[in-house]
Amino acid sequence: MTAHVAQPAEPVCLTQPAEPICLTQPEGPVCLAQPGGPIRLARRMARVQPSAVRDLLRLGADPTVTSFGGGYPDAGLFPLAGLAEIYREAIAESGRETLQYSVPEGISRLREQVAARMAQDGMPTAPDEVLILQGGQQGLDLAGRMLIDPGDIVITENPTFLGALLAFDPNEPRYLGIDMDGEGMDMAALEAALVANPTARVLYTVPDFHNPAGVTMSLARRQRLMELANRHDLVVLEDAPYRALRYEGVAPPTLRSMDTEGRVIHFGSFSKILVPGMRLGWAVGAPALIERLGLLKLAADTQSSTINMVAASRFLDRFDIDAHIVTIRDAYRHKRDVMLAALRRHFPQDIGFTEPAGGMFTWLTFPEGFDAAAFMRDHALPEARVAYVPGATFFPVEQRSNHARLSFTTNSDADIERGIAALGVLLRARR
Ligand SMILES: Cc1ncc(COP(=O)(O)O)c(C=O)c1O
Repeated sequence: MTAHVAQPAEPVCLTQPAEPICLTQPEGPVCLAQPGGPIRLARRMARVQPSAVRDLLRLGADPTVTSFGGGYPDAGLFPLAGLAEIYREAIAESGRETLQYSVPEGISRLREQVAARMAQDGMPTAPDEVLILQGGQQGLDLAGRMLIDPGDIVITENPTFLGALLAFDPNEPRYLGIDMDGEGMDMAALEAALVANPTARVLYTVPDFHNPAGVTMSLARRQRLMELANRHDLVVLEDAPYRALRYEGVAPPTLRSMDTEGRVIHFGSFSKILVPGMRLGWAVGAPALIERLGLLKLAADTQSSTINMVAASRFLDRFDIDAHIVTIRDAYRHKRDVMLAALRRHFPQDIGFTEPAGGMFTWLTFPEGFDAAAFMRDHALPEARVAYVPGATFFPVEQRSNHARLSFTTNSDADIERGIAALGVLLRARR
């Protein structure tokens, strides 16, 4: 298989009843219809559009629907008491500093703490190799701006994280999607794609507990990926927000730990191991790259929230975050087991699903020709009151309709069992 290269953007014209939007060819003006006449937008806005999936997911927000759609952590596991104490102290004891501006790269204590955690994970890191971000998502946005010119080829897994496509799209890349199997990205396909596309410069990967596919890249594939990156002069964006959420087995080393040439930027996040609402993540990489990313961050938002950085730092100093991560892992491991057991029990044999060793998602493969979005709209939602994310949206180039992503982290055991059983009944009835 299996490389897919996107053609340069097609003309786009789209009208929605609620918000009329008229996007014309990228070469011509991109305009937004308004009552007083069209407003002309930058050309890059041709790639920034509302998605049909968002509308479907909105339906899943109905409280009578069991949603396996969102990628949210379980809020029941948030360490509220500890955070309440820390935030109160941070204002009462040093509010004049914690509520003041600080520095774009992040407060130095938190950079040191992140550097120490990276070192524990096999990546010796100096504090000036750490940039504190507003969530890992900001890192993808900044890296996209730093690295991608219009028309540049960006290589991703096929499927890939939707948030990465959203972050990269305004820079007008062409995507090249490489299929995966149970060991992650197919390296023979990657090599063939690199030979065929020698100008490709950026590779984005989620090697640990992939979103949406749930698979982890094996050690051998990681080694091969780094050989190819060195040979073909790629910058590798290693996105690892789920890395600490491993439910069994031993973690393979990160790509960053194998990087001898300063070409990997590794992104991490507090969203899945502490709380997402503090919007804190980090990038680690060669100081020159991190410094440039920091300049883009300065332009984007000046800095991450001072009080949130202080709170995260105090949390790491005062509480045992690794013990907290063990609690999260135990809870999610159990939920994963409940979901996989329910899938085995209730789903027809011809529907495949991945068995993730960590993270938050399993990826369904329906028979060829099955349309997971239509099935959700016409059957799963109205008849079973169940939502998931139809998979087509995760494909950077040729969308495949016969997939879906299920998240197992937020529902109760009973809801997982009920929801999967109800889907199973509908899926069996479809023959
Ligand atoms: C693969 C991946 N990368 C990055 C993010 C961004 O997370 P955050 O911005 O909350 O750190 C997510 C969130 O779901 C994700 O799944």
